[in-house]
Amino acid sequence: MNASHRICLALALAAASAAPYAAGPGQEADVDAATALSDTNSRAMRGREIVPPGVILNLKGKQRNLVWQGSYIVNTTGCIDCHTHPTYSPGGDPFQGQPERVNAEQYMSGGRQFGPFTAPNLTPDNAGRPAGLTREEFVQTLRTGHNPHDPAGQILQVMPWPAVGKMTTRDLYAIYEYLRAIPSLPDNPNPGP
Ligand code: HEC
Repeated sequence: MNASHRICLALALAAASAAPYAAGPGQEADVDAATALSDTNSRAMRGREIVPPGVILNLKGKQRNLVWQGSYIVNTTGCIDCHTHPTYSPGGDPFQGQPERVNAEQYMSGGRQFGPFTAPNLTPDNAGRPAGLTREEFVQTLRTGHNPHDPAGQILQVMPWPAVGKMTTRDLYAIYEYLRAIPSLPDNPNPGP
């Protein structure tokens, strides 16, 4: 950013805080860009802080900023409620008023059952692929509800893919990058409701 851009940005920010509806068309774009940038950074910072204790990430060869943004999404939007079973370690259930301790031993290894459906293991397979999916397959699964490895016409029935699949491609990539970094685990040996 050169000096004149910086001044423009400062002016746009000042205009936005003083009179949000009075900004000219060009200034609006600048404000949007500045907000988007700070949102991304604060999400990444928060995401880095909230990786559950005991979940040791393998950051080698990963895009770290994406990993942290993915952590932000996975650890704040409820993925772990279904894909980690039980979600909390004994004595660490915040719903019982206990100090929170996420079940790192089974983190994202699946196992929560909903009638005939079981939340699958989303940890990386031997090839480092979360849930055995390439990044494009992962995005496709969440966008369409159909995992291309499943029989034709089969649609995820419990997974809130219609909501999750509306995220930006970058957000879905971020989730994928984070899942690539978490420890690889076998499928949860004790599935249950
Ligand atoms: C309400 C529980 C629930 C929540 C919340 C949830 N999932 Fe799922 N998810 C499931 C279940 C159950 C399945 C598989 C069975 C089905 O839906 O029919 C699944 C399937 C998936 C699959 C497909 C994997 C495969 O092997 O086919 C992916 C990817 C996935 N979830 C990612 C996520 C992510 C990322 C989040 C958080 C943004 C999330 N899920 C939140 C329950 C959940």
